[in-house]
Amino acid sequence: MRILVTGRSGQLARALVEVPLPSGWRMVALGRREMDVTMPDRIRGGMERIGPDIVVNTAAWTDVERAEEEREEALALNRDGAAYLAEACKRRGIPLIHISTDYVFDGRKGAAYVEDDRPHPLNVYGHSKLAGEQAVMAIWERSIVLRTAWLFGPYGRNFLRRILKLAQERKMLPVVADQRGSPTCALHLAEVIVEMIRRMAEERAASRRFQGIFHAAGGGDASWHDLAVEVLRVARRLGMSVTAQVVPVRTEERSARAVRPADSRLDSSRLQEVFGLRLPCWREGVSISVQRVSRPEK
Ligand SMILES: NC(=O)c1ccc[n+]([C@@H]2O[C@H](COP(=O)([O-])OP(=O)(O)OC[C@H]3O[C@@H](n4cnc5c(N)ncnc54)[C@H](OP(=O)(O)O)[C@@H]3O)[C@@H](O)[C@H]2O)c1
Repeated sequence: MRILVTGRSGQLARALVEVPLPSGWRMVALGRREMDVTMPDRIRGGMERIGPDIVVNTAAWTDVERAEEEREEALALNRDGAAYLAEACKRRGIPLIHISTDYVFDGRKGAAYVEDDRPHPLNVYGHSKLAGEQAVMAIWERSIVLRTAWLFGPYGRNFLRRILKLAQERKMLPVVADQRGSPTCALHLAEVIVEMIRRMAEERAASRRFQGIFHAAGGGDASWHDLAVEVLRVARRLGMSVTAQVVPVRTEERSARAVRPADSRLDSSRLQEVFGLRLPCWREGVSISVQRVSRPEK
């Protein structure tokens, strides 16, 4: 089994390449320089060189704020790049796991979202990701759209690392307390993705079960404020010098350009029913991620 991962320097791709693989399996992650997913000929070249049996697309425009101003760039990557990859996978007859987001929803349901709920994004990022999902599903039936949420972990640009850094520099940290979601550790998500691929490889004949949209988010839910408090609690327990006080604030007190859903919790029970897989609680993810940040491996 040869797995090709796009978006090599991103937080999820970096977590994926660390997951131990069954013997004989190989995972290759390619970055923008080796395989720019907005360029079909680069995708063709990368596919020919690696010869994958499956592709995991983690490459994305993830800057929610900047997307408001750079709409075309966000669409080029999140919609068109996803479509080019689906076309390339279809040509080779191999499955695609395309990562998407809870921000395809408007947050007004009042309960956790299931896969069949109607998407209604509130911001450009959400629109571009929804357009990518729709393109992938229309182009290639052997695709999985895997929606995750509030990704954090020891690598890359993410909320956990930002909070740890700011808490060492500032006394007060205002953090939004009226948005709820399903924080997800990138390390846990990466393990689940590899396990999904293992089950897909084992059960080729029934592969139709393994198509369509799945939610894959950490267990439990939280506000950004809850997440920040937990990050600093774990950091202090590990002896990090984080002195800042986390102060709860309301969304309207922050000057954000992008409108965000107030409650974008994801229900991941379909993943459990079909694949028998479940992500651990987000608090466990915070614990292992902060440990990794506080004691980086050599
Ligand atoms: N982060 C979250 O909170 C969150 C929440 C829900 C869903 N998701 C989804 O989860 C997936 C992974 O997110 P992440 O947080 O790991 O993202 P990330 O850390 O921002 O990484 C995205 C990667 O895409 C790469 N990339 C950018 N333009 C590219 C191009 N033209 N061709 C190839 N690669 C390109 C970037 O490379 P450079 O470093 O070279 O720019 C970066 O390594 C995405 O689909 C995202 O939408 C994320």
